[in-house]
Amino acid sequence: MLRDLSDAERAAYFRGIHPIWGGGLEEARFLAFQRRLAEAPEAHGRYRLLGWTSEQGALLSAMKAYDLRGSSARKELRVLGIGAVFTPPELRRRGHAAAMLRAAMADARAQGAQAAVLFSDIDVDYYRRLGFRLVESRESIVETSQLPRVSGGYRSAMAGDEEEMSRLFSAARESETRFSLARDGWAVRFQLRRLRELARARSAGEPEWGLIAEDGAAMVRFGRETLDVLDAAWLNDRARDRVLGALRDCMQRTGRIELRLWPAGQLRDLFAAAERTTALAMVAPLANSAPLPERGGPTELALLDHI
Ligand SMILES: CC(C)(COP(=O)(O)OP(=O)(O)OC[C@H]1O[C@@H](n2cnc3c(N)ncnc32)[C@H](O)[C@@H]1OP(=O)(O)O)[C@@H](O)C(=O)NCCC(=O)NCCS
Repeated sequence: MLRDLSDAERAAYFRGIHPIWGGGLEEARFLAFQRRLAEAPEAHGRYRLLGWTSEQGALLSAMKAYDLRGSSARKELRVLGIGAVFTPPELRRRGHAAAMLRAAMADARAQGAQAAVLFSDIDVDYYRRLGFRLVESRESIVETSQLPRVSGGYRSAMAGDEEEMSRLFSAARESETRFSLARDGWAVRFQLRRLRELARARSAGEPEWGLIAEDGAAMVRFGRETLDVLDAAWLNDRARDRVLGALRDCMQRTGRIELRLWPAGQLRDLFAAAERTTALAMVAPLANSAPLPERGGPTELALLDHI
């Protein structure tokens, strides 16, 4: 049976995924971070923790499920986002994760979803057998010297800037025909919640999460050695240079030598990009009518979409 995890099952699931996706956080802090995120108002109705259980009710496998909006070839899509699929080691290789994924996809299809998306960290053949196909998955690593110098004209993003940022990101995708996920406000709000809860788990206070320039913006997070651009957009070339220059300043101020981004939207053709080796984007149709990219086909997925 597929159902929402109970509180105790959530804790067991978080403990199970901590060694894989814990990002260096101590276990208790990771558990608190995941619990707060799951209970946040932004999660409501859009983010669920699902479990696959035996007839006796024992938890066999678990996953994160996101109710996403997207589009492809100008057709609006409801998309099931799948994350952090996990089966406890002693229960593996019995088909539990596959059965759970099939049930979650059937459920989403019954609720009106036309596609499913995930970012695979394992051999993609596993998900291929479940109906997924690998689509464009590239990454750019940019050095400071490739970014323009600017003197001012931007500031750090603050609480309340989410709406303006979403508007800019959304406008940049307005005439998009490639497979992309919506910038309806929720994606930015949810990722910001994630960054805030992560900062709280690290006792770091309010995180630095973005920058606003006149007619441009970028949402960022700090990797161990990189500055990661979750998404960025601008209305004109001047604003583009301001945003890129602000990213350069941010790198220099925080000692990051590389900027990391997925080339999507207005970030698409700015820098050389190479195939990614992790978080490989895969999509599966849940309805015949869904105009999804073919295998290897182009997408407009930015790091902001990585769930
Ligand atoms: C991946 C995982 C969820 C599979 O759970 P499961 O209940 O054992 O899955 P199933 O029984 O449906 O399928 C087992 C298959 O998973 C595949 N598989 C498991 N781990 C894999 C890996 N690292 N790379 C590729 N395939 C893998 C194998 O093909 C295996 O089939 P086999 O027994 O014929 O070799 C489980 O191994 C796990 O929790 N791993 C750690 C978390 C993780 O990496 N999740 C995936 C994130 S994208």
